[in-house]
Amino acid sequence: MATDVHRPVSPTVTHAVQVEGLTRSFDGRAVIDNLRLDVRPSEFVALLGRSGCGKSTLLRILAGLDRDIQGTVLVPRRKAVAFQAPRLMPWKRVWRNVLLGLPGKPTRSVAEQALTEVGLSHRSDAWPKTLSGGEAQRASLARALVREPDLLLLDEPFGALDALTRIKAQRLVGELWQRRGCAVLLVTHDVEEAVLLADRVLVMDDGVIAHEQRIDLDRPRDITDPRFAELRAGLLERLGVDTTAEAA
Ligand SMILES: Nc1ncnc2c1ncn2[C@@H]1O[C@H](COP(=O)(O)OP(=O)(O)O)[C@@H](O)[C@H]1O
Ligand SMILES: [Mg+2]
Repeated sequence: MATDVHRPVSPTVTHAVQVEGLTRSFDGRAVIDNLRLDVRPSEFVALLGRSGCGKSTLLRILAGLDRDIQGTVLVPRRKAVAFQAPRLMPWKRVWRNVLLGLPGKPTRSVAEQALTEVGLSHRSDAWPKTLSGGEAQRASLARALVREPDLLLLDEPFGALDALTRIKAQRLVGELWQRRGCAVLLVTHDVEEAVLLADRVLVMDDGVIAHEQRIDLDRPRDITDPRFAELRAGLLERLGVDTTAEAA
């Protein structure tokens, strides 16, 4: 029987996330299989892995949305999650969406502050369906930020955005992280995005963290730096993507 040992506490000052022996099965098949993961406070970690390898499953567990697990999962009490689809309630204006589910009776100014931080204060009164994809994603980020998270969980948040909007959104997340100082776990399928933003890139495979790569490049990062290309190529190789044609 699966045991619920999900505890919303910060176990030690040296960790924002501490996961040990985590297993999650669906229909008898272990998608996550005795996984170990540590994230330090204020660390930016990117999580790569082929589609269906269990990234979203792991994120949902860390967010406390899935408790049918075995193993130990220690996460901060204050955590927030943003998904690829912004998941805004169409019948609530943007600022009300930002406050949705917050405990107590938060005032509009709390929402306005977060919307300002993501550059969306001018759309505070708008209805979600009138937002562009990039705006909706920023609203979703604002909704995560009002929770003042110690751990920010992002599941392919830029996946549905066009290239230019995506670059802007990536930059925004980098800035928010530096300003807020929270730990971030970003699930992405984009190796370049991972190398651009993260302190450490993890590759998930076969239900565990199969590989990790520290990114010791100064910020802001320069994608034309040869070391950037080297790190990117190494990770692509780990993911089983053939880069020889590109190099030729
Ligand atoms: N609620 C569920 N019921 C059954 N199978 C699931 C459920 N959620 C995820 N899975 C399966 O677990 C595997 C990992 O899914 P997921 O974590 O979404 O992968 P990723 O995010 O890496 O693409 C997939 O094979 C998926 O079909
Ligand atoms: Mg996923």
